[in-house]
Amino acid sequence: MLDRIIEIAKQAGTFLKENEGNISEIKEKGSFTNLVTDIDKGSEAMIKAFIQKNFPDHGILAEESGASSPTSEYRWIIDPLDGTTNFTHSFPVYCVSIAVERKGELIAGAVYDPNFDEMFTAEKGGGAHVNGKRLQVTTTNTLEKSMLATGFPYDVKNNPFNCVQHFEEFLVKTQAVRRLGSAALDSCYVACGRLDGFWEVNLHPWDTAAAVLITTEAGGKVTGFNGEKYSIYQRDIVLSNGTIHDEMLEVIKKNL
Ligand code: IPD
Ligand code: CA
Ligand code: CA
Repeated sequence: MLDRIIEIAKQAGTFLKENEGNISEIKEKGSFTNLVTDIDKGSEAMIKAFIQKNFPDHGILAEESGASSPTSEYRWIIDPLDGTTNFTHSFPVYCVSIAVERKGELIAGAVYDPNFDEMFTAEKGGGAHVNGKRLQVTTTNTLEKSMLATGFPYDVKNNPFNCVQHFEEFLVKTQAVRRLGSAALDSCYVACGRLDGFWEVNLHPWDTAAAVLITTEAGGKVTGFNGEKYSIYQRDIVLSNGTIHDEMLEVIKKNL
């Protein structure tokens, strides 16, 4: 299963890279900040065609076309282009994210970054890898020594979950906070030790499914804002190396 996910993630990611700067249609999805391009749709169509050819009875949940009703216990969860705003500016931080659930449990996933040619992968119980190299989260043990990332939701003007206050407080309590523009890559960067933690609100299953499996398989921890067990179907996420998790939750809970 993972080999097939990797195969199509690589194809779709290559398609994105080849079409950077070659967008013919940009549409707004309800807000001037939430964009979709013909390239998002092209990537999604390519991934769906691959699944329909190779696994015709599997269910699909894809960002741009929604959910199909599965006749099988398998469900593919697809973000055909995570980082669309970056992509429309030719800012080279974006990726493809594909995960597979079996009976509601994440079993495999891949996040492919075509700019760095990095394929982040994980299988349930099999560890996480980037281009075949085993991943491990950092051992950073205080917020003060940590570097975190976050993202802002498309409705940031409403300040959902007090996300602006969270950003302000983390800014002064950590070594640095980054805002890359791709939730899937933010999370994979925690898995591979480039970051110590990540939090965000108003995410969707396609943003987090693959990256959450990759992070937990790399030894990281993932919860909701109240420290509860994380589900990809909830909107809030805290993802870390595990060691700084409680300190992150303290900041978040204080500002809820
Ligand atoms: C977005 C990115 C961004 C995050 C947004 C997501 P999209 O996904 O992951 O980093 O801040 O909340 O919606 O729209 O580019 O697939
Ligand atoms: Ca996304
Ligand atoms: Ca997307």
